[in-house]
Amino acid sequence: MATARLLLLLLLASAAASCSAWDISIRVPTERLEDEVVAPLIHALRPLLGSGAGQLAGLPCDSWRLGVEAHNIIDWETVPAKCEGYVGHYMLGGHYRRDSAVVVDEAVAYAETLQLAGNGKEVWIFDVDETTLSNLPYYANYGFGAKPFNHTSFINYAAEGTAPALPETLRLYQRLLELGIKPVILTGRREYLRDATEKNLRQQGYSMWEKLLLKPTSALQAGAAFKSGERQKLVDAGYAIVGNIGDQWSDILGAPEGSRTFKLPDPMYYVS
Ligand SMILES: *[C@@H]1O[C@H](CO)[C@@H](O)[C@H](O)[C@H]1NC(C)=O
Repeated sequence: MATARLLLLLLLASAAASCSAWDISIRVPTERLEDEVVAPLIHALRPLLGSGAGQLAGLPCDSWRLGVEAHNIIDWETVPAKCEGYVGHYMLGGHYRRDSAVVVDEAVAYAETLQLAGNGKEVWIFDVDETTLSNLPYYANYGFGAKPFNHTSFINYAAEGTAPALPETLRLYQRLLELGIKPVILTGRREYLRDATEKNLRQQGYSMWEKLLLKPTSALQAGAAFKSGERQKLVDAGYAIVGNIGDQWSDILGAPEGSRTFKLPDPMYYVS
């Protein structure tokens, strides 16, 4: 008890010390705003923005990434070359996993509030690439999306069935099974990858899905149209889509979207 109190005092003292240090270094001057006063403040704040926030012809890569995630920047082909290092740090340095955890924490909290009808018809839609599975081992060799997408080499990689799970999504998946919500896996991967995808999912801990829906090999539809069409078929068959999670806006746009949608981060590529 005494030790705990001492520890608390020490923690409070160090917190107070670090607060006052920040007061000094980031206090905004109220009387005169002159360039020479403001400039050091900007430098003091820069570390807070994270290292590797490289510049893209005046647009910082972190602003580019926000534009991408908010679906303001659309139809882009590759990560800007100058942002390769930034996106690599983002994906590997813990930030990606933290952002994914925020999404999944919200999704789990939402799912836990649902009053289920108990008829076994409530489903949750999961995308595959960069959602249930992570292709980071592949994209790390392609500049984290900065190099042009090579369809052949990606299909070869996917056919190996070695992609790791995105652990946050697996956590959501398992919680939904416990709650009695059935996962439906809906992917833009085509039917010829069914066996590899199924094997990969099972090896990474996914099981007991209600359906695994892949795009017909010869289908010409874009991702969003295919996926909304498949969701409509589920609704027509009496399912209630209580949630929908994917890394692309094309996973979650287009009626019927599902009662709530969750967008995982993906600064590496764009699928329309
Ligand atoms: C794409 O990948 C394939 C298979 O690895 C390779 O043979 C081909 O040269 C690559 N194409 C380009 C444009 O890099």
